[in-house]
Amino acid sequence: MTVSSPLQGASLATSFSRETEHGLTISPRHRKRVVLTGASGGIGILIARRLLALDYQVIALCRSAPAIENDAFIHLPCDLGSPDALSEASALIGENSEPVFAVIHCAGTIAPSPVAQSDEAAIADQIALNLSAPILLTRLMLPLMQTVDGPQKSRIVFVNSMAAVMPLAGSAVYAAAKAGLRSFALSLAQEVRSRGILVSTVFPGAVQTDMLTREMQQGGSMLNYVSTPLDPDLVARAVTDQLTRHREERFLPAIDGIFGRLCMLAPCLLRLCLPLLGLLGRRGYRKAIKR
Ligand SMILES: NC(=O)c1ccc[n+]([C@@H]2O[C@H](COP(=O)([O-])OP(=O)(O)OC[C@H]3O[C@@H](n4cnc5c(N)ncnc54)[C@H](OP(=O)(O)O)[C@@H]3O)[C@@H](O)[C@H]2O)c1
Repeated sequence: MTVSSPLQGASLATSFSRETEHGLTISPRHRKRVVLTGASGGIGILIARRLLALDYQVIALCRSAPAIENDAFIHLPCDLGSPDALSEASALIGENSEPVFAVIHCAGTIAPSPVAQSDEAAIADQIALNLSAPILLTRLMLPLMQTVDGPQKSRIVFVNSMAAVMPLAGSAVYAAAKAGLRSFALSLAQEVRSRGILVSTVFPGAVQTDMLTREMQQGGSMLNYVSTPLDPDLVARAVTDQLTRHREERFLPAIDGIFGRLCMLAPCLLRLCLPLLGLLGRRGYRKAIKR
């Protein structure tokens, strides 16, 4: 079993308490719950620390234990590449009747290689972790999330990559998975908005973490260094900001030029046209079934 017993002698349903500076005892039952993947990584750990500082309860799904000691931090060891492990982790999270306020998908992996030389396992891993796992986890988390009646809209945040919007020779599989994830997020946003759930994505360029170091050691793209790689804390802040200030897509750094603007604007323009496209589609469909 990939999800190990995470809480010895306790369960996620058990609430624990802590003293506030005013001497009041508050329970994490009153803290908003955030499920976070990738919390042991360079960006994820900074997201987790920021969330804890903002008084959220953090449930971290990753294989290795993040170096965080905090009563409001729970690590559920989980291999996101395993659908069974995802289901088991979600069932544990669902034991607690408190709704999940937010899900932040930060885990990711890259294995640079020209397509012709790509290893089958590496292709499968990149698609599993960067695309399938966030989709499956979202599906499992949606029933646990607060509905429209809640005091504040719930959030789903994806940590994507600039690779989703630009060709990245040598990392075609990663780029394809991230582009798929962008499309998933934009479609999901439309599905769940009426339930009171906001979906957003942050697209960083290169970020100074171990992932970038490993990527470059394996022949990663020199495009990563067109400008200085980003400070991971800047990315973490952009991600946690999404829990209070919603922006459907945020690029870091903001991309300029006609290509960049088109990348960012195309989905927005398309969304504005969707009602019209819907009418055209319905007309086309009626014509098609008459034939
Ligand atoms: N660094 C960059 O240059 C850069 C640029 C653009 C976008 N991004 C994106 O930012 C996100 C975070 O990147 P990072 O730089 O923080 O990467 P990182 O330091 O390599 O961290 C990767 C995280 O993913 C988790 N992970 C990997 N395989 C997993 C598995 N099978 N099951 C569960 N968790 C797994 C790792 O946890 P365990 O190993 O503990 O399981 C770790 O927490 C990724 O989605 C990445 O694509 C990064």
